Amino acid sequence: SSDEESGEEYLFKIVIIGDSAVGKSNLLSRYARNEFNMHSKATIGVEFQTQVMEIDNKEVKAQIWDTAGQERFRAVTSAYYRGAVGALIVYDISRRSTFDSIARWLDELKTHSDTTVAMMLVGNKCDLENIRAVSIEEGTTLAEAEGLFFMETSALDSTNVKKAFEIVIREIY
Ligand code: GTP
Ligand code: MG
Repeated sequence: SSDEESGEEYLFKIVIIGDSAVGKSNLLSRYARNEFNMHSKATIGVEFQTQVMEIDNKEVKAQIWDTAGQERFRAVTSAYYRGAVGALIVYDISRRSTFDSIARWLDELKTHSDTTVAMMLVGNKCDLENIRAVSIEEGTTLAEAEGLFFMETSALDSTNVKKAFEIVIREIY
């Protein structure tokens, strides 16, 4: 293609943050490999996946970073955020405490990011409608106030997972 000839290539770093067990690792595995694990273990340190997508006939590579929500297992904070141009900030719609933590995650992101970051607020586990603890309206309101995109997702049944990542990637691009 003409891209290959001109050597044009885009590589974007995207980070996923949020409290432990909100589903960060499963969102990534659903997006990158179409896999879901009902019994996934807490992440220790940092993991990443490179995902290729095509936008306007150009190959765009997103390097998506995933770390532990638990403080004691986390990667070095400054290194984790360095160079990130996109972020998914995730809570679990069935656990209010994870929504209450969003302000703290946003603070950390803003403190450590060095450029403009495209940000998506993600209310994950929307399949758990019967035990919902955070309304869609609360998510929307917070996102509007903070200037974030917003989407409810389910890594379990795949709802909006691809969309959430791709909106961020497109915004960066
Ligand atoms: P840390 O690595 O500790 O920060 O957790 P995490 O945010 O990566 O969570 P993880 O992806 O490991 O998921 C935690 C638990 O929630 C696992 O038992 C998953 O199977 C479950 N889970 C993840 N996403 C969903 C979802 O969309 N719906 C439901 N019902 N369960 C989910
Ligand atoms: Mg994890």
